[in-house]
Amino acid sequence: MELLVRDGDLAQTSCDVVIVNLFEGVTQPGGATGAVDAALDGWVSQMIELDAFTGKAGTTLDIPTFGKIPAKRVVVVGLGPRDAFNLEQVRRAAAAAIRRARALKAKRVATILHGAGIAGLPAEVCAQAVAEGTALGAYEFDKYKSVKDGEPKTAIEQVLIVEREADKVPMIEAGVKMGMIIAEATNLARDLANEPPDVVTPGHLAGLAETFAVEFGLRCEVWDEVRIADEGMNCLTMVGRGSVRPPRFIQLEYIPKGTPKKRVCIVGKGLCYDSGGLSLKPSESMRHMKTDMSGAAAVLATLRAIAQLQPDVAVTGLIPACENMISGSAYKVDDILRARNGKTIEVDNTDAEGRLVLADALSFAAEQKFDEVIDIATLTGGCIVALGTIWSGVMGNNQEMIDRLIETGNTVGEKMWMLPFDPEIREMLDSDLADMKNSAGRWGSTLQGGMFLQEFAGEQPWVHIDIAGTSFLDKPRGYEPKHATGVPTRTLIAYLMS
Ligand code: BES
Ligand code: MN
Ligand code: ZN
Repeated sequence: MELLVRDGDLAQTSCDVVIVNLFEGVTQPGGATGAVDAALDGWVSQMIELDAFTGKAGTTLDIPTFGKIPAKRVVVVGLGPRDAFNLEQVRRAAAAAIRRARALKAKRVATILHGAGIAGLPAEVCAQAVAEGTALGAYEFDKYKSVKDGEPKTAIEQVLIVEREADKVPMIEAGVKMGMIIAEATNLARDLANEPPDVVTPGHLAGLAETFAVEFGLRCEVWDEVRIADEGMNCLTMVGRGSVRPPRFIQLEYIPKGTPKKRVCIVGKGLCYDSGGLSLKPSESMRHMKTDMSGAAAVLATLRAIAQLQPDVAVTGLIPACENMISGSAYKVDDILRARNGKTIEVDNTDAEGRLVLADALSFAAEQKFDEVIDIATLTGGCIVALGTIWSGVMGNNQEMIDRLIETGNTVGEKMWMLPFDPEIREMLDSDLADMKNSAGRWGSTLQGGMFLQEFAGEQPWVHIDIAGTSFLDKPRGYEPKHATGVPTRTLIAYLMS
């Protein structure tokens, strides 16, 4: 799908669907919506009068035009109440409208720039939000379906943002460019998590990192299983040992042209499959464990976007990638592992594997003395119990970083909530035989996970984001699709760009 900007009259644009909008409770539409209403002899306002449409956020109304204007249909999307309006509502409106247009089998769509007219938001940020909402809302993982609902698949080919004032077009184009880079990165993260686990393997993630390095000028280094073992990454070796697909440790780095403002490291849990290992998951819990590499997907996607956007911040992405499987060579409950930083870990449960592979990656990060380290992981089912699919859980040793990440998440529409972090939690992980054990059961499991990771992140400013609940949805929500959401790719990009 391409998104283009044109100056002209929306009501006179020829296309399959023209998208306009309406605030909740408004009876006489103005702006471009008013112009379309007038061209249709007041059909839109008559529908409002009949209470067939109220402008409630996320709702749409579609009206056939019967040749009164060049477009075949008009889709009116509700913006919700005017006093609750912001860029998140712009993204949601764009998504609701494009989904309606797709359901109508439109190929060519023209749209109003939500937010820039009566609401008076700056055109450039509105354009970014419309691009994000449109590209994120149009996303569907349907490549393995030969037909959809019994009919051939159709896709929207082109979306035109039509602006009356020609001098605003360059600004709108800049916003669209930014929005598309961010949305395409998010959609990449979604694809990687949605693909079946036989496709997205540790080797596949490594190959993709190498491809991005060549295409976008990043530095890339991939360690194979031999190098991983030589480097003292014993936890990654052991978690991956039960699989016929060997682990990979992936480093992907963006180095800005001038002196970097700061050096940030993002670490993503890359469990290409989590069967639980010998502490095998029951069948229902194993479902969708292909998405246990969602943290890694967000890291790869963020690095691609950063390479395109070129901020003056150095960004290193680290991905410990492997599969947690069962076989004669699988690691066992009772094994004692020595992580890269020398600390020993008694395995209480082979299903608490994410923290193990992250232990080696965070130890490696701690050696490089980054200004900030952020890890992203589908770490605990307990985080879904606590925060549902609405908030990611955030813990760390640096309140300022935590505050900035939560704030950034709120702005882009990826909510996060800080969880308690206290040395008392550490006592739960005390082991009779080793420096610590990898799990102390289900009580406070999310907090245990965070506290465990801190042992390896060390003193450097570090934040852990548990995305177990937010990375996957079983039904669509706003511009998020069913299944992989790509969270928190947009937060990471915005954080690194600010
Ligand atoms: N990958 C899972 C966490 C998870 C569960 C992510 C559900 C997404 C949806 C993780 O490796 C895991 O198995 N965690 C265990 C930890 C326990 C053994 C301490 C959990 O949360 O049950
Ligand atoms: Mn697990
Ligand atoms: Zn896992």
